[in-house]
Amino acid sequence: MDDLKAKYLDLIGKADTESNLEDLRVAALGKKGEISLQMRELGKMTPEERQTAGPALNALKDEINSALVAKKAGLADAALDERLRSEWLDVTLPSRDRKAGSIHPITQVTEEVTAIFADMGFSVAEGPQIESDWYNFDALNIPGHHPARAEMDTFYTHRAEGDNRPPHVLRTHTSPVQIRSLEANGAPIRIICPGRVYRADYDQTHTPMFHQVEGLAIDKDISMANLKWVLEEFVKAFFEVDDVELRFRASHFPFTEPSAEVDIRCSWEGGTLKVGEGDDWLEILGSGMVHPKVLEAAGVDPSIYQGFAFGVGIDRIAMLKYGIPDLRAFFDSDLRWLRHYGFRSLDVPTLHGGLSK
Ligand code: DAH
Repeated sequence: MDDLKAKYLDLIGKADTESNLEDLRVAALGKKGEISLQMRELGKMTPEERQTAGPALNALKDEINSALVAKKAGLADAALDERLRSEWLDVTLPSRDRKAGSIHPITQVTEEVTAIFADMGFSVAEGPQIESDWYNFDALNIPGHHPARAEMDTFYTHRAEGDNRPPHVLRTHTSPVQIRSLEANGAPIRIICPGRVYRADYDQTHTPMFHQVEGLAIDKDISMANLKWVLEEFVKAFFEVDDVELRFRASHFPFTEPSAEVDIRCSWEGGTLKVGEGDDWLEILGSGMVHPKVLEAAGVDPSIYQGFAFGVGIDRIAMLKYGIPDLRAFFDSDLRWLRHYGFRSLDVPTLHGGLSK
């Protein structure tokens, strides 16, 4: 018994993991452990022998048990000490210098445009980017055979085999929001619809995804003169100049009649754009009086209501205003570019507080 005791106390003292300890417990006190086997021998002893061997074995068992428990606690303490030593953190250190995020020029310009039109009583409407061909084309007076469908380099979605319905499209312009908003709210209405649009095109001034803002004003007495005034106010406010000269050039869009493309007077002295002076003209948007067929498609009676619509490329006017030469860089997520062309996140554009400063 003394040998057993010496052996296990020694082994327990040397154990350095919990699983070592468990192995020792099994070897000594498990069902077939050395001490357990000795306990079984008690039955074969004479009553006298048993009287001394019994209590001695029980004492040995208790002693080994206590040694195991004490060592286990010791190992846990040591593990905690080790963690406390290695996993410390100095909370008094200064925080890491975080580079402030900035506002992307597209977001900035969308906010600027929204602020300007909000001031003229327009609210913001939105529509889905995956659109039915009815909203994207037919309702806007662009029937199936119309060349505008091909010109727009449309992305079509895939229909399952045997599904003969026309495919959905990634909207090629924000004009379908005109139809959705008129259907939902009827006339009179005054909205702008900013958002993403898609066309299969890629070069310095075209990317497969870009941004437009659509404008729509419908009432009983809205004329081309209102369109002209609204656009002049917009261009002056947006380019932050006191005076601009707009040129309305006769054009054609299926959804407006008459239609006009709008140019602004500008100069390109030294490669930088100056709006409001010079001998050049810069095309900035398409517009016109909403076609009666479009109003009809949207459930509005064209014998009572009329109005204007326009569509502006947000990326395009952002490039012009902020002198950004390549559209593709807008979508490259190049941090150096974003730091250069980005805007401070807390400077919300407002007409009274300044749009871009
Ligand atoms: N939807 C046209 C386009 O993406 C832009 C446009 C032109 C919108 C004239 C209009 C408009 O509302 O009247 O090319």
